[in-house]
Amino acid sequence: MKNSQLLKIAEDFGSPVYIYDSEIITTQYQRLMSAFNKVKRVKINYAVKALSNISILKLMHTLGAGLDTVSIQEVKLGLAAGFPAESIIYTPNGVSLEEIETVAALGCRINIDNLSILEQFGTKHPHVPVCIRINPHVMAGGHTNISVGHIDSKFGISIHQIPHILRIVENTNMTINGIHMHTGSDILDIDVFLYASEILFETAKNFKNLDFMDFGSGFKVPYKSDDIETNIEEFGEKLSERFNTFCKTYGKELTIAFEPGKFLVSAAGQFLAKVNVVKQTTSTVFAQIDSGFNHLIRPMLYGSQHDIQNISNPTGRERFYTVVGYICETDTFANNRRIAEINEGDLLAFKNAGAYCFSMASNYNSRYRPAEVMWHNGKAHLIRKREIFDDILRNQIEIDILPQKKSIKAQVHM
Ligand SMILES: Cc1ncc(COP(=O)(O)O)c(C=O)c1O
Repeated sequence: MKNSQLLKIAEDFGSPVYIYDSEIITTQYQRLMSAFNKVKRVKINYAVKALSNISILKLMHTLGAGLDTVSIQEVKLGLAAGFPAESIIYTPNGVSLEEIETVAALGCRINIDNLSILEQFGTKHPHVPVCIRINPHVMAGGHTNISVGHIDSKFGISIHQIPHILRIVENTNMTINGIHMHTGSDILDIDVFLYASEILFETAKNFKNLDFMDFGSGFKVPYKSDDIETNIEEFGEKLSERFNTFCKTYGKELTIAFEPGKFLVSAAGQFLAKVNVVKQTTSTVFAQIDSGFNHLIRPMLYGSQHDIQNISNPTGRERFYTVVGYICETDTFANNRRIAEINEGDLLAFKNAGAYCFSMASNYNSRYRPAEVMWHNGKAHLIRKREIFDDILRNQIEIDILPQKKSIKAQVHM
């Protein structure tokens, strides 16, 4: 999108604001599909957690995606967006049996990641086929908080517990229709994916009634123009060949499934925020924006580096700025970053703000969550209103606060 279009959106919808370009999402979806065009059955289940606005989900639906969900609320959003239940896979972690049963009753595909629930679910619902999330014991991911397939991780059933899974399957007579793994996010090296895939193939051999194999996600996206990214085309070529060979020996045309979040929506999103104050201290020049980690927590949560451009003065002389927010705790977006000269009132565009940005936003400091806008067919569409004060008070219950009675203990000490 052009800077002039971004500036106009901030003028029309206010600041801060999230903007998502539907064309970039479409291109990414098609890129992933074509990387696997040598496999007959491919399913891309968009990871709703990355960006769950219903208009984004509807876009995914028109592209032909399914959904990867982790909560019953994400499932309900998917259904509200028009997805048929069977195109939604539900991969919870540590949720109650009741929630899983409710989602199963809606007709979604169920992915189970622990032996306790597997046994309980299989005993009560032997006729509902389930997928199993394994933990392949692979250390992968751009940060420890997003590495989820290693031996100490809470996710998945250990590959060393396959005999136990098989015992449960036999005892309950349940059917395992899918096998799944997700090892982490921001994984650059395709050899890591291919290595983990071999473990999934090895595991799959134990299950005779599979319909699909889900290789999760975690593809690294570029954060600036010359940044490295997962070579999705090479990965597609290599894994497709291996997958097709596996299907031959397995004796059935299985579906290959992925569940990308970042790959589909990260680059499509931009976050615009206005500079309230340029503060020169003895050591640093701070640019303080009308936002904070309440709107974009990733830099503070796991050190992600969002490219920041001054769209009000893009050709200005570059200077060093530490970009911070207005929150009452440290909320640094960038340290000593070269950015075109910033004046108070300028608008900064934070790139790669599509995934895990709005969806992790909160009302911390009782601030409003920003509006969301979708750029679609050359037009800006408001897809979520900026919150107002009523939203902050909604669901709060004011009680009459009467003077407190002194406790007996307190009186004794007087
Ligand atoms: C089970 C599962 N699948 C898919 C994803 C999406 O990962 P990414 O955004 O890296 O594509 C995640 C991310 O947390 C996940 O936990």
